[in-house]
Amino acid sequence: MSVRRLAEPTVQPASFAFSAENAAWADLAIAKYPEGRQQSAVIPLLMRAQEQEGWVSKAAIETIADMLGMPYIRVLEVATFYTQYQLKPVGTKAHVQVCGTTPCMVRGAGELMDVCRSKIHHDQFHTNESGTLSWEEVECLGACVNAPMVMVFKDTYEDLTSERLAEIIDAFEAGTPPQPGPQTDRFYSAPASGFTSLTDEQAIQDNAREWREKRKQAWSADAATATGETATPPSQAARPKTDAPETNPAIKSPSPEKASPAAESAESVKAPVGNAAEANKAEPSVEGEAKQRQSGADKDGDQGLKAPELHKGEPVGADAKGEAASDASVTSAGKDQAGNPDADAAGKSGGKDGEAS
Ligand code: FES
Repeated sequence: MSVRRLAEPTVQPASFAFSAENAAWADLAIAKYPEGRQQSAVIPLLMRAQEQEGWVSKAAIETIADMLGMPYIRVLEVATFYTQYQLKPVGTKAHVQVCGTTPCMVRGAGELMDVCRSKIHHDQFHTNESGTLSWEEVECLGACVNAPMVMVFKDTYEDLTSERLAEIIDAFEAGTPPQPGPQTDRFYSAPASGFTSLTDEQAIQDNAREWREKRKQAWSADAATATGETATPPSQAARPKTDAPETNPAIKSPSPEKASPAAESAESVKAPVGNAAEANKAEPSVEGEAKQRQSGADKDGDQGLKAPELHKGEPVGADAKGEAASDASVTSAGKDQAGNPDADAAGKSGGKDGEAS
């Protein structure tokens, strides 16, 4: 990216004006845009000025700005942004733009620039002594498949060699520009070494004829089927293929064999929740044997394991066991060994089994 500045004041013309033909063209170009949008014509007008003068001068920029009612700086921004605008005088007969992007560079663009250095000027953007030729290196010009290439004004010259570019420059200098395009016998962008496919025209025609015949036969068969002339069995292609027994077409559904509800009930296992005696049995793996769980009053005298507030002032722990030992015939549930309620013990415990359990 280079800084683009206007040419030195010494080469700037004092004024600029479109020719009569170009002025008429400029009026038409401006009229293409809707009212209030005339400034959109700035790019084509700048390009037209360059085609007339060969480059874009400061006077041309200001004249076009006046024509479009634009500040000078706005037109200057456009002219200095786009590299298509030449801001310095170029060769009057040819300005050679050499593509220096990778595809062209690997195909010999460096040698082409050497030709320009030797035949035009050592540095780009400088004209030769007579002012008829100049050159510059540019980025890709979109003809990479025909690399290396150059562009002179609006024409491209492709598939170049150093020798051919030298001849082209001489031809422009002589005022006889050569025909643009590939500079070899290559057909536009076709393979440089000749066609690699579709080379036998007879084979292509035979193939096409065979394809048309097959298509015709297929069309006739379809038409005959549509009119019922042939009986085509239904296709099995969309039928699912599976070994699962439930998809066996031999199995009819619903089954004609009905199960007996009474026989099913007899074979069923009763749910434990419906049998209180069974449900209340401890697991043999826990007790060693199927054993009925204890319920009701605490028979082991382990009141010390219960929360104190449940004893309502009764001695707990060792004291409670000592008392129980001294009164061995009375259980902590207020019953004697025969299971009869003990009035004294029942009074201490409140006389309720529920409180002791
Ligand atoms: S790289 Fe040269 S034309 Fe694209």
